[in-house]
Amino acid sequence: MALRDSRIPGFYKLPLGERRQEIIARGNLEADALAVFDRGGIDRSTADRMVENAIGVYGLPLGLGLNFFVNGQDFVVPMAVEEPSVIAAASNAARMVRAGGGFIGEADEPVMTAQVELLDVPNVLAAQAALQAHKPALVALANSFMPRMVARGGGARDVEVRVPSRQFGGTVDRVVVHIHIDCRDAMGANLTNTVAESMAPELARLVHGRIGLRILTNLCDRRLIRINAKVPFTVLPSQDLSGEATAMGIESASRFAEEDPYRAATHNKGIMNGVDAVVIATGNDWRGVEAGAHAFAAMSGRYSPLARWWVEDNFLVGQLIMPMAVGTVGGTLGVHAGARAAQQMLGVTSASTLALIIGAVGMASNLAALRALATEGIQRGHMACHRRATSEIPSMAATAPTIDRTSRTANLTEVVT
Ligand code: MEV
Repeated sequence: MALRDSRIPGFYKLPLGERRQEIIARGNLEADALAVFDRGGIDRSTADRMVENAIGVYGLPLGLGLNFFVNGQDFVVPMAVEEPSVIAAASNAARMVRAGGGFIGEADEPVMTAQVELLDVPNVLAAQAALQAHKPALVALANSFMPRMVARGGGARDVEVRVPSRQFGGTVDRVVVHIHIDCRDAMGANLTNTVAESMAPELARLVHGRIGLRILTNLCDRRLIRINAKVPFTVLPSQDLSGEATAMGIESASRFAEEDPYRAATHNKGIMNGVDAVVIATGNDWRGVEAGAHAFAAMSGRYSPLARWWVEDNFLVGQLIMPMAVGTVGGTLGVHAGARAAQQMLGVTSASTLALIIGAVGMASNLAALRALATEGIQRGHMACHRRATSEIPSMAATAPTIDRTSRTANLTEVVT
């Protein structure tokens, strides 16, 4: 029985082998499953089956995000990332959020959207009316193409008709049909694309148009997560600043991102540091999550931050809203033993819970970055971690100081106890 407590004091100080023993002893993962990470989660023959022209396997470090408490539950979070300090920073910020009760989140139903483009539509108004009139039949038709998903409680939820030229200008005889599909615990890309292709002939017939593109949209704005966090001032002080002053600095940094898209891009990159690391470790499509995140960030017409922070009473309060299309079944999981082991260690079976955990890690990464930026800057912590990484590369070791694993005190990567 796994001890899911995500607080593992002193974990970072242990040599790698002892960390692995600790994970086994705590029941987070069995030795056999952990062993798949000796070879990057897949072997060469699996790589050969997964992609074309394969010549090998490309590795990334896998670490554990600690201290994550999400909706009253502890999670030890696998993170695959090459950038030093991301895991330590997220774990450190998660500990601060934990002091305020942890991350509280909710996820929309796991709805993906298929787009069917219909071109050369002679009468767009009549086409819209025809599609609206046939909505229940179209939902039923969509469901007929995915009986197994319907049996699992998912399936088509709605059909929507859009004429993009009315909103954005451009081709006036193009009509786009959105089919919204609840994919349950799957990410759902294959299913959504199958439904798009299967529905297209009937949709084209109804509008007297020609079939265009049939593919999901990564701007899955019906699959949002909303995560809130509250951090007491008492856990925020940095070396030179009180907790309150640090919180005010973070609020100001958040406003900077709201007021300047150049800053918002970097602010969101900090969020994606955490998000992508978990999305990759759990075998999900990080390009899809990235595309959705940035399209959503620009939806108001101006590129905006995905998470905001402000001061309320004696707390720093934050909220993150973004799309999160990830799955706990299907896709890469069928072939990638490492992704399966990572999900097993996380201990989730529901895609919505996985989405919330990923959002929490993104938010923690953002908090850590803003706290460092608003106080002493990120370079001290970042460079300490960088030196640790490069000291083990022979050509760089000559110039890199010896690393003391206990001496990471810069506020981006403070010791994670
Ligand atoms: C670096 O990987 C991420 C940061 O640039 C994020 C930020 O500026 O908010 C530190």
